[in-house]
Amino acid sequence: MSCYMGKEEKPVVLVVDDMETNVMLLEEILKEEFDVQSKMSGAEAISWLESNPCELVLLDYRMPEMNGLEVLQRIKTDGKLKNVPVILLTADMEMEAEGFKAGAADFIHKPFTPEAVLLRAKRILNYEYLQSKLAEEVRRQTKIAEARRASMQRLFEQTVFALAQAVDAKDKYTHGHSRRVAQYSRTIARIAGESEEAQLRIYYMALLHDVGKIGIPDEIINKPARLTDEEYSTIKSHTWIGSDILKCIEEFPDFSKGARHHHERYDGGGYPDGLKGEEIPRMARMIAVADAYDAMTSNRSYRGALSQEHVREEVVRGRGTQFDPQFADIMLRMIDADKNFTMRET
Ligand SMILES: [Fe+2]
Repeated sequence: MSCYMGKEEKPVVLVVDDMETNVMLLEEILKEEFDVQSKMSGAEAISWLESNPCELVLLDYRMPEMNGLEVLQRIKTDGKLKNVPVILLTADMEMEAEGFKAGAADFIHKPFTPEAVLLRAKRILNYEYLQSKLAEEVRRQTKIAEARRASMQRLFEQTVFALAQAVDAKDKYTHGHSRRVAQYSRTIARIAGESEEAQLRIYYMALLHDVGKIGIPDEIINKPARLTDEEYSTIKSHTWIGSDILKCIEEFPDFSKGARHHHERYDGGGYPDGLKGEEIPRMARMIAVADAYDAMTSNRSYRGALSQEHVREEVVRGRGTQFDPQFADIMLRMIDADKNFTMRET
C-alpha cells in the first residue's frame, strides 16, 4: 500500500527503549507493517545497527547510561549509519530543538496513541524513500545530460575536423596544414599560460584559420607558377571570406577572428585590416606564428621544406616585425626543444 513497500519484505524498524512494557507495546503497534527488532540500551542498539540493515529507528530519550540524544548523535556521526532515519520518543517537549539539531527525523510524544506512532513511522519511511528516489533520479538525469553534452562536443569536434580537412584537400601542397597549425597554436597558448579552455578554443580557431580558402578557385590555390597581382589579392580574400563563414558560429563569437587576422603583421604591414601590435587579437597573433612556421617547414609547389636552422633564423628575423615578440620567443623555445626536428610536415 505504501510506496516504500516497493519490495516484498517488511521494512526493518529498530525499537530502542529500556522499559520492557514500552518495547512490547511498540512491537504490538508496528508488527503488522514492519519487521520489528528491539534493544534495551543505546550501546546494544548501536552494535546491532553496525551489522544489520535497518530502515528506521524508534529511540527512547530517557534511558540509563547513554540517553537517546547521545545514541542519536552517535548514529548521525557514523559514516555508515548516518542515513538511517531516527524518531525520538520523549515526554519532554523541550528536547525537540536539541533532537532536531542532532538529526532526528521526527518526534513522538509520550504517552503516545498507537495510530499516531504507526502513521508517523510510515510517513518518515515514505519521505526517506522519496528522498532517495529523488537523489537517484537527479544522478540519473545528470548522467544523461553529461552523456548528451559529451556527444555534442564530439559532434562539434568532428565537424570542425571535417571542415578543416575539406580546406586542406583543396590545396595539394598543404597536407595536414590546419591540424599542425592547430597543434602548434595550442602549444604556444599553453606556454603563454592560457587556461585549458582558452587552449582548446585557440586549437579550434587555428583548425579553421584557412577555412576561407573554400571560396578561392582551385587553380589559384594550386598554381605552381608565380601569382599575378590579381590572383594574389584573390588569395588574400580567404581571410575575410573565412571570417564571414565563421561568424555564423554564435556559440564562439571569437572564432572568426583567427580566420580574419592570421595574416596581420605585428608591424601593421599585414592584411586584411593592417592592424598593428596589440590591435591584432591575441589568439590571431599566436596563430600567425604557428601558421608561418608550418608554411616554412612544409613542402611547397615552388620549394621543399626549409631546414630547422633556416626556419629559426626566419622566426628571429620576424620577431617584432611580422610576429608578436612574445609568441616568436615561445616558438624559438619550441624549436630549440625539438632536437630531432619533429615539428614539421612528414
Ligand atoms: Fe592563411
